[in-house]
Amino acid sequence: MTVTDISDEGRFLAQGNVYLPHIAVIDEIIDETYDTKTLRINFKDEKLRDEFTFESGQFALCSIFGVGEAPFAISSSPTRRDYLEIAVRRVGKLTNSLHRLGVGTEIGFRGPYGNGFPLDLLQGKNLVFIAGGIGLSPLRSLIWNVIDNRDKYKKVDIIYGARTPADLCFTYDLDAWEQDKTVDMVTTIDREYEDWTGRVGLVPMVLEQVAPSANNAVAIVCGPPIMIRFTFPALEKLSFTPEQMLTTLEKRMKCGIGKCGRCNIGTVYVCRDGPVFTYAQIKDFISSEY
Ligand SMILES: Cc1cc2nc3c(=O)[nH]c(=O)nc-3n(C[C@H](O)[C@H](O)[C@H](O)COP(=O)(O)OP(=O)(O)OC[C@H]3O[C@@H](n4cnc5c(N)ncnc54)[C@H](O)[C@@H]3O)c2cc1C
Ligand code: FES
Repeated sequence: MTVTDISDEGRFLAQGNVYLPHIAVIDEIIDETYDTKTLRINFKDEKLRDEFTFESGQFALCSIFGVGEAPFAISSSPTRRDYLEIAVRRVGKLTNSLHRLGVGTEIGFRGPYGNGFPLDLLQGKNLVFIAGGIGLSPLRSLIWNVIDNRDKYKKVDIIYGARTPADLCFTYDLDAWEQDKTVDMVTTIDREYEDWTGRVGLVPMVLEQVAPSANNAVAIVCGPPIMIRFTFPALEKLSFTPEQMLTTLEKRMKCGIGKCGRCNIGTVYVCRDGPVFTYAQIKDFISSEY
């Protein structure tokens, strides 16, 4: 048998069990909102801590032994190597259990998986980040990556919205980006709210008001499916082409490495072909399946 005769599965097995997670320790827990926490983690193994690399937009399968495993975007930037962060919204069994863990607890971590954002295509471009709720999590990794390499990119716009002020995640980052003179930041909430003096309006509507130019620009969108569905047409109105729009999709997953078929949407596997896609790649099936 030659090397090329070995199946992917065989190759993985030859390298060890790919489903075996690394052990990571929770170093810090940040309460983002009433239902979302950031877990700042680090690998137990020092060599792995030093050698681990990932790209903004990639995800990991995080687990609690005896409870389960689920995918989470890595929300920290690869330019900040002292730690990894994931933001966890409490929706079910595993995420509730992750919320109950304390500092010093060990969790399983396998990855990084997926394709990440295409940095080579983004360099030299005007970037328009559009996020809703916890959808800021994967974009945050890229935003800090861009800020840490600011001279490689042109204008940076960030439009971020949430249902209410209490749903805004990463408020410490929002403050930092507001202060950053190289970034144009707009934060909005869906409806008028007591004591909120900032902008009010749904993200796609605010996007049309801000009206970033499509010239030499790429829009990077992540948020709840309903926000994504209305944001793409708003971008089209502003003359962005489907190739100039990126998004990162979520779908239920099991293996994370293109084996089980669980994360299929249309003709793609989100874990293997994504989670980052251009709108051009997914527009034919996103409205019916997502
Ligand atoms: C690539 C990727 C990145 C993700 N990044 C994040 C992240 O950064 N932060 C975060 O909080 N969550 C993220 N998710 C979603 C997260 O994986 C699910 O919330 C998690 O699997 C729920 O597990 P559970 O056991 O708590 O919920 P379950 O008990 O399994 O389900 C509870 C509810 O959540 C829904 N649900 C479960 N999985 C998903 C899913 N993948 N997408 C949409 N709805 C789901 C179920 O339909 C059900 O209504 C991501 C998912 C993917 C695929
Ligand atoms: S999660 Fe198994 S193929 Fe994508």
